[in-house]
Amino acid sequence: MVRQFLRKKAKIARGLWNTYFVKRGEIRDGRERWDELHYVHGVSDRQTLAADKHLIAAKYHYNSVELKILRHLREYGIETQGSVVLDIGSGAGHWIDFYKSLGSASTIGVDVSRLSTEYLRNKYKDHSDVTILHGKASEILAGLDAKFNIVSAIGVMFHIVDDVEWIATIKMIARSLQPKGLLIVGGHFGCFDGLNVKFDPDGGVNKRLRSKSRWSRVLKEAEFSEIRVYRNQAYLWIDDVLPENHLLMATR
Ligand SMILES: C[S@@+](CC[C@H](N)C(=O)[O-])C[C@H]1O[C@@H](n2cnc3c(N)ncnc32)[C@H](O)[C@@H]1O
Repeated sequence: MVRQFLRKKAKIARGLWNTYFVKRGEIRDGRERWDELHYVHGVSDRQTLAADKHLIAAKYHYNSVELKILRHLREYGIETQGSVVLDIGSGAGHWIDFYKSLGSASTIGVDVSRLSTEYLRNKYKDHSDVTILHGKASEILAGLDAKFNIVSAIGVMFHIVDDVEWIATIKMIARSLQPKGLLIVGGHFGCFDGLNVKFDPDGGVNKRLRSKSRWSRVLKEAEFSEIRVYRNQAYLWIDDVLPENHLLMATR
């Protein structure tokens, strides 16, 4: 537990160092990185975390995130039966399956990775309620007319490293939600803002963590309310590296 705690703190400390002192981490488009670095040996839940992530650690991560979402849905009486869902950064489709298991009527899944999109199109080829779109969230949202009850963006918003694109994406998500629609984001939401914590081999920044207060400010500007953050401490109890997986919920 202490080791895991220190490991996470060290990551934040490195992020502070990289961002504020050595100013490391170039903002790049990064469109190809998922296919070149992550999904080289296939697409699965496990491989959305890292190419060599252990199956049990991955399952543990997903279960811990599911618990937080279920708690929020139950506590605030949010009806998922018949809901229309947009899943951003669908990866191997874990969250598409999750909302389907909660009775969603239809889902649009979006991913920038060509390999993920091909995998998902094949996985859901017999599911008329699931549509998979290939592209960056910002590009897809710009052309979407549909209105959603739930927009889910787990483990993806911190990969939108360009701040302008990140804000534009949040504003477009707001416009794509029905009144009282729910945004679910998996990420970090700490006290330091804009921390570059992960890099591609070519030096491009791959993960940028925004603070809770920055998230709240941008969400309020986009007319979200009832913003809640759930801290996920599950990482403390497993001897493996899990991604940032706190949960943020906001209502349109
Ligand atoms: C860490 S994985 C998480 C996958 C999935 N949400 C999950 O939790 O299982 C991030 C996924 O988001 C996709 N992605 C990254 N940036 C994106 C963007 N700007 N728009 C859409 N998808 C993106 C990646 O290709 C990858 O499949």
